[in-house]
Amino acid sequence: MCGIIARVGDSDDAVDELLTGLENLEYRGYDSAGLAVKNGGGPNVFKREGEISRLKTALDDEAPSGGLGIGHTRWSTHGPPTDENAHPHTGCGDRVAVVHNGIIENHDQLREELQARGHVFESDTDTEVIPHLVEEHLAEGATAEEAFRRTVRRLSGSYAVAMLVEDSDAVYATRRGSPLVLGVDEGEYFLASDVPAFLDFTDDVVYLDDGDVVVAEPGGHVITDLDGNSVERTVKTVEWDPEDAGKGGYDHYMLKEIHEQPAALRQTLRGRADPATGEVTLDDFPPGTFDDVERVQFVACGTSYHAGLVGSRLLGTRGVPSQAFLASEYATSPPPVDGDTLVVGVTQSGETADTLAALRQAHAAGARTVAVTNVVGSTAARECDDALFIRAGPEIGVAATKTYSSQVVSLALFGERLVRDVTGSRSDDVERLLQGLADLPGQVQQVLDYSKARRVAKQYRDSDAYFFIGRDTVHPVAMEGALKFKEISYEHAEGFAAGELKHGPLALVTPNTPVFAVFNDRDDEKTLGNVKEVEARGAPVVAVAPEGHEEVVQHADEVLTIPDTHPDVTGVPANVQLQLLSYHAADILDRPIDKPRNLAKSVTVE
Ligand code: G6P
Repeated sequence: MCGIIARVGDSDDAVDELLTGLENLEYRGYDSAGLAVKNGGGPNVFKREGEISRLKTALDDEAPSGGLGIGHTRWSTHGPPTDENAHPHTGCGDRVAVVHNGIIENHDQLREELQARGHVFESDTDTEVIPHLVEEHLAEGATAEEAFRRTVRRLSGSYAVAMLVEDSDAVYATRRGSPLVLGVDEGEYFLASDVPAFLDFTDDVVYLDDGDVVVAEPGGHVITDLDGNSVERTVKTVEWDPEDAGKGGYDHYMLKEIHEQPAALRQTLRGRADPATGEVTLDDFPPGTFDDVERVQFVACGTSYHAGLVGSRLLGTRGVPSQAFLASEYATSPPPVDGDTLVVGVTQSGETADTLAALRQAHAAGARTVAVTNVVGSTAARECDDALFIRAGPEIGVAATKTYSSQVVSLALFGERLVRDVTGSRSDDVERLLQGLADLPGQVQQVLDYSKARRVAKQYRDSDAYFFIGRDTVHPVAMEGALKFKEISYEHAEGFAAGELKHGPLALVTPNTPVFAVFNDRDDEKTLGNVKEVEARGAPVVAVAPEGHEEVVQHADEVLTIPDTHPDVTGVPANVQLQLLSYHAADILDRPIDKPRNLAKSVTVE
């Protein structure tokens, strides 16, 4: 994710205001922090790996003064969290400083071009191409503004960028696909990824559109399109309490993170899949990477284990022998492993002790290991042979939500790479699968807009227990639905394979135990048979099902509808319905949703 901020003003206190802004943006990333300020001359850059407190300590010794500045807090996507990879980035001559949030998709090609012309890069980041390009245009005689516009035209991908240039008293900024807002005060301007960054200084805000270019100087600001045509944007006053602003106006981080899923999924998918050609592009895993793999084992805990179960099913049904293991069990009683085995650790934090132990065990037994994680500098990412980053942005709520969805999508993409390398041919349905993935951000948004989960949660609030059933790729969704429900509502909830209900759990089903049945458009008649068993015992049934299933509607007391899509990805929007259900059930019961009792976000003991 990453957060950026810029401050433009006459008074020399840019550093203090930038640091306040960065602290308010820390929820967007905390791998490293940096800022650049200007007081005439060129930009002075200060940056440190780690949390903002480390940057602050560094600035205590030599605090620069100036009225113009830019700042950044990083959530790594390219390169580990180090001082070198921290923003701002500069070109060869230190005339330009840039902060960026997003992903520059053509950075490899731009970097090669620039290196061929003699530019020397200091970081692994995609961002660093920007100051080098600007520097070239300045050398050709372009003004700072022209150099900025010409550079932005060369970028593809997503970006919110702010720039300082030597000998110019302006901050230059633009956005495409990443958020950027302008804060307006008397004689002062702020540009930031999110309003809370500057809410301590002003509540007058301009929400910028993709393609807007802002040039802000202490004397005034101009907003134009990329071609320089002036555009009108209205100033709005926000009414947020700065205390709540980190949650973006939501009551809890969990709800905010549930609502961030469309954006997180776009970020996960960006540049990685093309439904029209069926191509999957994973930078660190070119075709042939896994030619010598014969079987795949997933190891994970909690919610990540449920994502691993989905990943394993996707591979198994496409001809790759595969199994998912609870990491704690794997470490205790490991299955046979050899050099042809690929062991995939699924862990959003990359720090879960059980998962690390399982990965170490597998590595010692000769397996190749890959971490699928959200945290670039995490132990799992560093210790495994390779890592695939899910790019969901930081998750603060203890209950995992957006990271699950991004894990499932990442595993679907990674799975297709494996299918091709291991079996020698593409999945038969790859175009449809990739289209299903590409549709997910919009479909999840639809669920968020129209879900009636709160009403359903209210209706069944006094139940004795809650059961969740599903088969195939939505069996893990039933398990995840129950896990989420119990961890934040403290109510008894269990998830089962739909077919197993009759082998025991049915004994517990009564008119006061609602059963949530998840459908994915595959073998639905069998799950419907299980629903009828429940119905016959007088238990209420809530179906989570794709639109237009008449028979399901007939047998369910309530339906939480999801858009129709490929059965292998239906679980993502279905799970969003269940996340909302759990959230509202816990909210109605007034539970401490972001910090449930006895649980921790990252469990670093075995
Ligand atoms: C803890 C968290 C869960 C999470 C699990 C695995 O138990 O409370 O929400 O699913 O750890 O975490 P990981 O970081 O490895 O995905």
